[in-house]
Amino acid sequence: MEDRFAFLTEWYDPTSALLRRYQLFYYPRDGSVEMFDVKNQRIFLRRTRYDDIHQEDLFIGNRVNVFSRQLHLIDYGDQYTANKLGSKKERTLALIKPDVVTKIGDILELIYSSNLIVTKAKMTKLTWSQAADFYAEHQGKPFFNNLVQFMSSGPVVAMELMGDEAMSIWRGLLGTSDPAVARREAPQSVRAQFGTDGIKNVGHGSDSPAAAARETEFFFPSTIGHGPSNTAVFTDCTCCIIKPHAISEGLAGKILNSISAAGFEISALQMFNMDQVNAEEFYEVYNGIVTEYPNMVTELCSGPCMALEIHGTDAPKTFREFCGPADPEISELRHRHIDTVRIRFQSEARPLPLCDLRLVERVCHIQIKVS
Ligand code: TYD
Ligand code: MG
Repeated sequence: MEDRFAFLTEWYDPTSALLRRYQLFYYPRDGSVEMFDVKNQRIFLRRTRYDDIHQEDLFIGNRVNVFSRQLHLIDYGDQYTANKLGSKKERTLALIKPDVVTKIGDILELIYSSNLIVTKAKMTKLTWSQAADFYAEHQGKPFFNNLVQFMSSGPVVAMELMGDEAMSIWRGLLGTSDPAVARREAPQSVRAQFGTDGIKNVGHGSDSPAAAARETEFFFPSTIGHGPSNTAVFTDCTCCIIKPHAISEGLAGKILNSISAAGFEISALQMFNMDQVNAEEFYEVYNGIVTEYPNMVTELCSGPCMALEIHGTDAPKTFREFCGPADPEISELRHRHIDTVRIRFQSEARPLPLCDLRLVERVCHIQIKVS
């Protein structure tokens, strides 16, 4: 019998403001999909080949894009699928501590090269009591006060990672808690490379499924508007969007590294899953002005994007120059000698511009609606 994987999915329908449920079927033999409307009990999409979905994208918690609908995979649709695809998939919280937030690009490179994907991310600054709450299990231990003091001393980057055995892979990437020991035992580990001492030790990783659930809820609560806020300052800055195609190609780490290497300060960072309405609103000034508008909207809601606040004098001008012209091909012709982000990271498969810059107030607005 032909292999068929089944999922229960949710899609937010912006026109009716309703959460709609579909069963999604995926046939690995020919890469085709089929959708069934759960409420109306009828076929919604007949079995159709769809090259943009891959078996490795199919796990609980992930979002996949089917014909411009972003479907949230909320459960397995049958035991067969759960047994075959679900066994080792995990999520974990990965927290980058204040000592190494500028190393976020390098750390993302390691994460992507370990076949983990980043499903949520936010730069935030914890208050003393938020940090104490996060590390509640260590309350009363001799290092507790110093730990909480350090964790609330500057911005951190919280991420939700997903993939096969995500918890142990991330803790393995980190290395053992004490960087001095890590340097002896695992010189390639993140703590060995970037850690200072037992407290300034680069990162945190959840140590059990229960901790992962609690800790991701701490930073990314299901109730919209709750949880620690991002670090955007909204002055002397511009907004950079790393588009979904660049995120799914695993380029976020390289792009962040090149932004830092060019001397720009990243003062805020957050991942968003934009829906059609948000994307249209975000690009509203291009509506009717550029022919690419509909494609830009489709691209922006095709998967998670990463919004950055770039801080610095004259940032809107200097950062746009750094990004290069919107079309990487034009960029290449005009600036053959200049090393722009768009030339370096353009994708042949989907040659859409990587970054589009708008005033950062828009991100703030989107955060209210989407986060
Ligand atoms: P722990 O949960 O034991 O380590 P890990 O971060 O690897 O899960 O401890 C939490 C943090 O507390 C640790 O990252 C750094 C700090 N800490 C100290 O400063 N001194 C210590 O002796 C220990 C055990 C932890
Ligand atoms: Mg721990």
